Amino acid sequence: MSSQQNIKKPEGKLGILTPGMGAVSTTFMAGVIAANKGLGQPFGSISQMGKIRLGKRTENREPKIKDFVPLASLNDLVFGGWDIFTDNAYESALNAGVLDKDLLNKIKDDLSAIKPMPAVFDPNYVKRLHGTYTKKAKTKMDLAKAVMADIKQFKIKNSCNRIIMIWAASTEVYIELSDVHQTIENFEKGLINNDPGISPSMIYAYAALKSDVPFINGAPNLTNDIPAIIELANKLNLPVAGKDFKTGQTLMKTILGPGLKTRLLGIDGWFSTNILGNRDGEVLDDAGSFKTKEVSKLSVLDSVLEPEKYPELYKNMYHKVRINYYPPKGDDKESWDNIDIFGWLGYKMQIKVNFLCKDSILAAPVVLDLALFMDLAQRAGMKGIQEWLSFYFKSPQTKEGLQPIHDIFLQKIKFENTLRYMMGETLINHLGLDYYEGE
Ligand SMILES: NC(=O)c1ccc[n+]([C@@H]2O[C@H](COP(=O)([O-])OP(=O)(O)OC[C@H]3O[C@@H](n4cnc5c(N)ncnc54)[C@H](O)[C@@H]3O)[C@@H](O)[C@H]2O)c1
Repeated sequence: MSSQQNIKKPEGKLGILTPGMGAVSTTFMAGVIAANKGLGQPFGSISQMGKIRLGKRTENREPKIKDFVPLASLNDLVFGGWDIFTDNAYESALNAGVLDKDLLNKIKDDLSAIKPMPAVFDPNYVKRLHGTYTKKAKTKMDLAKAVMADIKQFKIKNSCNRIIMIWAASTEVYIELSDVHQTIENFEKGLINNDPGISPSMIYAYAALKSDVPFINGAPNLTNDIPAIIELANKLNLPVAGKDFKTGQTLMKTILGPGLKTRLLGIDGWFSTNILGNRDGEVLDDAGSFKTKEVSKLSVLDSVLEPEKYPELYKNMYHKVRINYYPPKGDDKESWDNIDIFGWLGYKMQIKVNFLCKDSILAAPVVLDLALFMDLAQRAGMKGIQEWLSFYFKSPQTKEGLQPIHDIFLQKIKFENTLRYMMGETLINHLGLDYYEGE
């Protein structure tokens, strides 16, 4: 990692390209455009609203994060993407039904100008969708080259200085890690031989890295967490991060779970169910795509609760996650959690959480922050897996052999200390500095 002096300035325009221009992407794009026009505020975005304490508490130094680290400004962002449908960002946002029509009409011209590029798509990996606006080519390598050409053209057309790619397309079916994923060499052979182990999302990730573009995975599918892509990122000095934006029910789990664990309250069971009616819900109604999501959602509690260290409290916990497609809900997902807990002498209690959530409203600031912090990471010369951004993911990508940290409060400390480190400030562990070095 570079020191402060070596972080390149965020000069010129930053292009943010999203494979998938559905609910999440268009809510994100519309939100940034609206914020730039003074039509709304980017609530939920740490990069825009967050502050960071520096030094001792008595120093009273707490700048805004965006004034502390050199981030791209919202006015310098340019958007683009790929989709299997031809709807522009305005039409897609209307269809997603997340943002009010009134607001969308005020920014109609900007949104309508964002038109998707034809997608790399294969219905074998997302079974519920049948789009036609797709690239045709003999091999997966040819498809990757077509994406590289798209990136190059976008960059020139929009006079971008840098580009970031964020996968915000539908969740692909569950894929097991196999030989083709192990090395760059195997992977490139697989691209040429149309290996079925290579999904469209992996093709985008490969194309991004080969174009000097950091890649982020917002969905739970196996993509940049394969050894070949990690090796490529390290080799090309590019950051990657994933996976699956932490929003909705899982966000609540990583807030509640650490709280219960801190007080050593036991848990007998945690039953989570969701109903949602957007396209994401329709895709997740397919068993293959649901399995990918289920694995991502289930992994969270184990690492928060550490049942191996506290077997009497958590070893027998029954954890179930259900997602059901229910069209009347649209993007307004409703989730219920029933948590059976026990305390002193084993006496039982219950917690019920009913979250009436707007998924894309929670995801949009996550997309913005990830894009800006990954751009910062690239300018700071940080390569490979960016674990300090775990804060934003349901299944944080970690180096091989390490367990991911899911506790959102630990993740926040790691995130802030990385920013302090990048800027040459003292790291804060809330112990040494306050208690032993005096106030
Ligand atoms: N909303 C959230 O809070 C949240 C949280 C975590 C993860 N996610 C994930 O983010 C992704 C996007 O969610 P959404 O609500 O915007 O879904 P969405 O269905 O509204 O949008 C996804 C878009 O991707 C397109 N698409 C599918 N395959 C593609 C491909 N190969 N190339 C290009 N485009 C493709 C679809 O046509 C669709 O327009 C999903 O995978 C979802 O599981 C969302």
